[in-house]
Amino acid sequence: MAKKLLAVLLAGAMTFSLAACGGSTGATQEAAPAPAAEEAAPAAEAAPAPAEEAAPPAEAAPAEEAAAPAAGGKVGVSMPTKDLQRWNQDGANMEKELKDAGYEVDLQYANNDVQTQLSQVENMISGGCSVLVIAAIEGSSLGEALDMAKEANIPVIAYDRLLMDSDAVSYYATFDNYKVGTVQGTYVKEKLDLDNAEGPFNIEFTAGDPGDNNAGFFFNGAYDVLKEYIDSGKLVVKSGQTKFEDVATPTWGTDVAQARAENILSSYYADGTDLDVWLCSNDSTAMGVENALAANYNGKYPIITGQDCDIENTKNMIAGKQSMSVFKDTRTLASQVVKMVGQILTGAEVDVNDTETYNNNVKVVPSFLCEPVFADASNYKEILIDSGYYTEDQLK
Ligand code: GAL
Repeated sequence: MAKKLLAVLLAGAMTFSLAACGGSTGATQEAAPAPAAEEAAPAAEAAPAPAEEAAPPAEAAPAEEAAAPAAGGKVGVSMPTKDLQRWNQDGANMEKELKDAGYEVDLQYANNDVQTQLSQVENMISGGCSVLVIAAIEGSSLGEALDMAKEANIPVIAYDRLLMDSDAVSYYATFDNYKVGTVQGTYVKEKLDLDNAEGPFNIEFTAGDPGDNNAGFFFNGAYDVLKEYIDSGKLVVKSGQTKFEDVATPTWGTDVAQARAENILSSYYADGTDLDVWLCSNDSTAMGVENALAANYNGKYPIITGQDCDIENTKNMIAGKQSMSVFKDTRTLASQVVKMVGQILTGAEVDVNDTETYNNNVKVVPSFLCEPVFADASNYKEILIDSGYYTEDQLK
């Protein structure tokens, strides 16, 4: 370790550090436990301010706005996995934009293995990276590498997933994650006309990876919209699984989500009971639920929510097998991060639009939240094809 630390100190000597990252989910009684931090909202009643009161996410950085002038130098980009489509896009977008801006790039994928990500980040530090951009597999698993970065005065940007329990991170660049959940919950509320319809309607939930701080925001955002209808009995969770820890999906795995959905369908819906809604926090878990429904369910097809507009899920939306998704343009996020890298390395003021929401149990982190966009079969052409995100052929 001493040798490694020396390499780090040498490599990082000429750079400087900035650090932040954070995120209490706020929490309703059923939802993900807010991280234990003095600023976190009391777990029982206070959910974070509803999206409309939250700091308005900034407009996505317009594509034509050039990143801040590159100061040169090498940027380490650590992505969690290639197994989920979006991270391939995130990594490729960032690598291209950083290189176009004059940086050298060390892009690594960690195959959803925490130890791999840890050593990859440590190698980036000893390899002379001036800034690190990290999408953590597990937000609280990189403390050792973050300590090394701090030691070497290397600034770190948490990329779309909060780095927890550390003050060695400068900024967080993400989307309005609580709003992603409220978009999903509001879609269900409006689709079922919950304020006027008789009901009751049967609903199940599938949340994301408990090691991903985002997962609590997504789940809480949706649950906070629907909680009153569950409490009144208009929405019925037949499995009884409404606590984040009961509905979470390690690694966001499609197979994990599918296995749990198969279990719930055979236990509670095999007798012809109709399932009206399955609220899934993202597309990889929604795909698992859709696979389970295809093989184990013959009732009325439920409303299914998702996030990320993955290609296969967008095809399912077009085919009527998924009701909606939430589009998070990874080009926008990549451009924003490249801009922040330039601002950090040139000593310019760094763009943030939220300095209250993201507490990582050590401190609240200045963050830049990009805008998530509702997507379904009625608007996918405009937001996904006309914008050049996908080609027509990719969605055939
Ligand atoms: C989250 C991310 C989501 C979702 C998930 C799976 O951190 O914000 O977009 O896709 O990871 O990768």
